[in-house]
Amino acid sequence: MRRVSFIVMFSFVLSFGYALRAAEAPSPEYVKAMKTLGAVVGGLSKPGASEDFEAVKKASAEAKAAFAVTENFWKAKGDAEALKLAEAGSKYSADLGVVANLTSSEGVEAAVKDIASTCKPCHDGHREKAAEGFVIK
Ligand code: HEC
Repeated sequence: MRRVSFIVMFSFVLSFGYALRAAEAPSPEYVKAMKTLGAVVGGLSKPGASEDFEAVKKASAEAKAAFAVTENFWKAKGDAEALKLAEAGSKYSADLGVVANLTSSEGVEAAVKDIASTCKPCHDGHREKAAEGFVIK
């Protein structure tokens, strides 16, 4: 009896540990969303980018869509910490559209900084380099 419950418990611990460590290949949609975010932040960090308000508005819409994909993924996965970062990114991307409409280049610069502040904490905790590209952990 003791031995059985030990085995049951041991296999439970093993499978739990495996579930925690299991890395997951991202969907093409998720990769596309991340590439969009990379392009948006890269583009908006270029000199003069914060004064091209039409381009900033377009970037705001693209970033919002990309963060929506990110949010849906982490909501489904049930990871509150990653979801919070994705939600913050969505909010900052919406802010970016607001300040672009106000033609405030300082506002644009601040919003871009805010957007970029969400990337690293999530990548540190949830992104792992794979043989090709990245996996989600
Ligand atoms: C809530 C978590 C989260 C946030 C926030 C986040 N990322 Fe990611 N990102 C990931 C994960 C997980 C991967 C690995 C899967 C993949 O490659 O798509 C990734 C991968 C990437 C990649 C590599 C895509 C590829 O596979 O070629 C780029 C580029 C990227 N992120 C850019 C960004 C930028 C820029 C931001 C911030 C504006 C950002 N990410 C915000 C989780 C996040």
